[in-house]
Amino acid sequence: MKTFQKVGVLGAGMMGAEIALCCARAGMDVVMKEITRELADQGKKRIDTILSKQVEKGKLEASEKTAILNRVTAVDTYSGFENADLVIEAILEVLEIKHKAYKELDEICKPDCIIASNTSSISITRLASAARQDRFIGLHFFSPASIMKLVEVIPGLLSSEETIAAGMEFCQAIGKTPVKVKNVEGFVVNRILCALMNEAYKLLDEGVATIEDIDTACQLGLGHPVGPFRLSDNISLDLLDKVHGILTGAYGERFKLPNAFREKLDAGHIGRKAGQGWYDYRK
Ligand SMILES: NC(=O)c1ccc[n+]([C@@H]2O[C@H](COP(=O)([O-])OP(=O)(O)OC[C@H]3O[C@@H](n4cnc5c(N)ncnc54)[C@H](O)[C@@H]3O)[C@@H](O)[C@H]2O)c1
Repeated sequence: MKTFQKVGVLGAGMMGAEIALCCARAGMDVVMKEITRELADQGKKRIDTILSKQVEKGKLEASEKTAILNRVTAVDTYSGFENADLVIEAILEVLEIKHKAYKELDEICKPDCIIASNTSSISITRLASAARQDRFIGLHFFSPASIMKLVEVIPGLLSSEETIAAGMEFCQAIGKTPVKVKNVEGFVVNRILCALMNEAYKLLDEGVATIEDIDTACQLGLGHPVGPFRLSDNISLDLLDKVHGILTGAYGERFKLPNAFREKLDAGHIGRKAGQGWYDYRK
């Protein structure tokens, strides 16, 4: 059984910082790399903010917060990656950028270090072709990663049995529930989610119900914590457009986005981060 004393996290954006927090909370040392010192510090600040809220709510002792923060080292070089047992990559969703990073990691990391990608949409086998194909795996976290319990564990074609077992064990070690999933476009969750969202957009397009009523229907009729329109705004419509494009390429017309979605996208109303999406956040 592989032990994980030290984890490297590449990227300290929305996912990377929260993944780093999950590892540090489980007692692991974490080195979190960004492209600049400022972005690395911003990632650590994001962790600080999440932990401070938990302290305010009485869910965490201030001393525990300090101990967790002290386990995370934010860097803008690969310093500290040389003795990591696992590196989780959570950088931009661009194949060439990820491949370049894996080649750099292969030079620096110890031979038995596993490289994992948090990609939402790129084939794990294709990602793994840059380096360490047998010690490469997909670990797909969900946003916000510090709260969501699920991780999809996706072996590539050449991932070894040891690597797959280690991926599952790592998820359990940080308190997550792993599910093993084949390397197909959208994996399990995004395929189901995008089908649901597309149906919601189509209902709107057909004038069957309003945005608010469709969200209420999913919340109260299906027990979802937020409805599909609110969730689209949180994820952002530009990212969803990319994911739907990949799913349409793989599975055909059933994932093609309807006109109501295109109009929002063209208007620049891409969600919460833009101040407007399906809902208005400017107030
Ligand atoms: N946002 C989501 O809900 C979500 C969910 C699951 C998976 N993902 C996946 O996680 C990955 C990251 O997504 P995100 O939403 O956190 O993106 P993000 O844009 O918030 O963060 C990515 C960060 O990576 C940094 N970066 C780029 N190249 C780097 C390099 N070579 N070394 C170190 N840092 C580098 C960028 O500066 C940026 O801060 C993507 O592959 C995405 O598909 C995202």
